[in-house]
Amino acid sequence: MATVSVPLGNAAIGGVNYLEEINRLRKERNAVILAHYYQEPAIQELADFVGDSLDLSRKAAATDADVIVFCGVRFMAEVAKILSPEKTVVLPDMEAGCSLEDSCPPEQFAAFRKKYPDHLCLTYINCSADIKALSDIIVTSSNAEHILNQLPADQQVMMAPDQHLGSYLAKKTGRDMVLWPGSCIVHERFSEKELIRLKAENPKAPVAAHPECPEAILNHADHVGSTSSILKFVLEDDADTFIIATEPHIIHQMKKSAPHKNFIDAPGMDDSCSCNECPYMGLNTLEKIYLCLRDLDPQIHVDEELRAKALTPLEKMMELSPPMAQNRPQDNGRAY
Ligand code: 13P
Ligand code: SF4
Repeated sequence: MATVSVPLGNAAIGGVNYLEEINRLRKERNAVILAHYYQEPAIQELADFVGDSLDLSRKAAATDADVIVFCGVRFMAEVAKILSPEKTVVLPDMEAGCSLEDSCPPEQFAAFRKKYPDHLCLTYINCSADIKALSDIIVTSSNAEHILNQLPADQQVMMAPDQHLGSYLAKKTGRDMVLWPGSCIVHERFSEKELIRLKAENPKAPVAAHPECPEAILNHADHVGSTSSILKFVLEDDADTFIIATEPHIIHQMKKSAPHKNFIDAPGMDDSCSCNECPYMGLNTLEKIYLCLRDLDPQIHVDEELRAKALTPLEKMMELSPPMAQNRPQDNGRAY
């Protein structure tokens, strides 16, 4: 495997070497560090496991560590706590939310559900525990189509909170679904005009896009899928240049596994900003990882009654999901 140099940024500030301290504390506390692909490279590199929402949930459910340090956003850490209530789950920054979660307040969602009593509610994992508790089956972008295809053809379905994932799946499966109008602020910021220009400059480069992108962007994609599916696609496809329409930190794993290929992040509406970087994921830093391991704070707590209600649709998801990929090139070869 090629070595990729990772800027360690704030690895040692104010006399504290964060990497050394994190490595000491993770052993002392019997902690596992889980990171999403949208985390900065230095965090992906120190994690025991890097993955998409589904694989991270599976790791959180299976680990025998005492502490889970979740380098991702709050709903992901909350899922880890719901699946592994006996573990201490810490999130480096409790403000690491998600615009999809924010777009779906429980009271409005409960009223929306009531309007469609015959519909099965498939809810995207990017939501709060309260919304999960009101849902029938939780899905992620890597298992939603697989789960939908297992439902009887005459079963009416509603999906929340991501309208773009919902529309994409409705089109792909031919199912007419009732959709909640939520969206991701990061994936909504890609510019179709700029993407067309980039494609013209790189006519042989396939476009790989996350289904949280609006239809105008997905219409230009050669591959649509979850973060892990995009990663698999670019590693297996013969092209040497790819345009990536999702949060650009995933490109770190692409460069690591395929250093001979080129990856161009799809342009945002305004080229002068890093508006396609997830601002919530960006709140986690090495310093905050060190502090949450040291203090076991901020910690995720979920009320037991709510946890039990949210667990049922998550277990249904696990039961209906395809098996997890083994021997992934991005595995760091660590035990977890
Ligand atoms: P994945 O499940 O594809 O990793 O997506 C998570 C996410 O938040 C995308 O914005
Ligand atoms: Fe939420 Fe979008 Fe960030 Fe994913 S990229 S965590 S959907 S805000």
